[in-house]
Amino acid sequence: MERIEVKIRAQKESSYPILIGEGLLNDPFKYIKECTKANKFLAVTNETIMPLYGDKLRQECLKYIVLPDGEMYKTTDTLNRILDKALELKLERRDCIIALGGGVIGDMAGFAASIYQRGIDYIQIPTTLLAQVDSSVGGKTAVNHSSGKNMIGAFYQPKLVLSDTLTLDTLDERQFKTGLSEVIKYAFIEKTCSSEQNYNLMEFLENNREKVFSKDKDILKALIKICCELKSAVVNQDEKEKGLRAILNFGHTFAHAIENITHYEKYTHGEAVSIGMKMIFDFALKSGKINKEYYNRAISLIKNYGLVCDLDFKPDIEEFYQVMTSDKKVDNASIRFILPVSEKEVKIESGFDKKLLLEGIL
Ligand code: NAD
Ligand code: GLY
Repeated sequence: MERIEVKIRAQKESSYPILIGEGLLNDPFKYIKECTKANKFLAVTNETIMPLYGDKLRQECLKYIVLPDGEMYKTTDTLNRILDKALELKLERRDCIIALGGGVIGDMAGFAASIYQRGIDYIQIPTTLLAQVDSSVGGKTAVNHSSGKNMIGAFYQPKLVLSDTLTLDTLDERQFKTGLSEVIKYAFIEKTCSSEQNYNLMEFLENNREKVFSKDKDILKALIKICCELKSAVVNQDEKEKGLRAILNFGHTFAHAIENITHYEKYTHGEAVSIGMKMIFDFALKSGKINKEYYNRAISLIKNYGLVCDLDFKPDIEEFYQVMTSDKKVDNASIRFILPVSEKEVKIESGFDKKLLLEGIL
């Protein structure tokens, strides 16, 4: 088992462990009880995950809420259902919510925990690769709003993240690749996340493609650990995205617009991110930020992992731009971009000309 301690520089009491290993869900309460003094637990999950892993949590003191599956249910209505259930069960201040599922469940359950009785403990048990490498770590919680993704939410750290790599065995290839898209994102931002360690994630991915796709547990554990350490290094310095943390959104300004204009139905989050990363590499090459050699290497990595690279329709530039400017990552109406500037290094920049930005890319 690997253990990473997430420390938040600004608030020491917010540190928590991420545990990564094969079979951790065989005895989850061994770890959970070390991190919370809760008497009662509410497990939030969905109808896909419940039959697969619901039994792993069964305890006298635990009740479930089983939600419908899908990003379209990441709404205030579903959030209210979680809060109603917590009230019905009379959860108290010391009690605890457990998120058992992917990023949708994790984001919603975490947000419910952040506002129920002004904040109770919660634990992340991520079951998708995307959630294990990214969404379960760092305390971003939210639901969507018709005006945009994750518009209503809070920064609220969990007490524990428990990642059992065995859960990835039941993930279908599309969802597995969605997680790989966020993994590859870390390869492109590695140097900017942490100057202290050199993980060589890009080389690791280039050299271990087959083992990754055969879901070799040691390789997956190593990958998840690297991503979590990189994310922790960023969150430690900037929990509430005042600056540096924005780099974790590499490719996401385009991705969120893609998800929005396709009504969260056509592409998974990771697919939108891989298309978004390709777009930002195109832009960086076009505007002279990176050389052709790095561009080719980056795009080969995305393609070799079989990730979606291009939109299969031509969006309206005006509509696309409007959606991008209503995204949370907008700073005084000027779009902030995380631009690749050299190998594994990115920079936050804003103030781009709309025409230069989108023409030739969309
Ligand atoms: P998801 O939660 O919708 O899960 C994808 C699908 O896989 C769902 O159908 C789910 O039921 C199913 N599933 C989950 N675990 C499974 C398993 N082990 N076996 C079989 N099926 C399984 O999607 P996701 O990709 O995990 O997360 C996407 C969400 O995460 C988005 O809402 C995005 O905004 C959010 N996100 C949040 C952060 C953050 O920092 N909080 C970061 C990245 C993404
Ligand atoms: N996934 C982006 C963040 O956690 O900040």
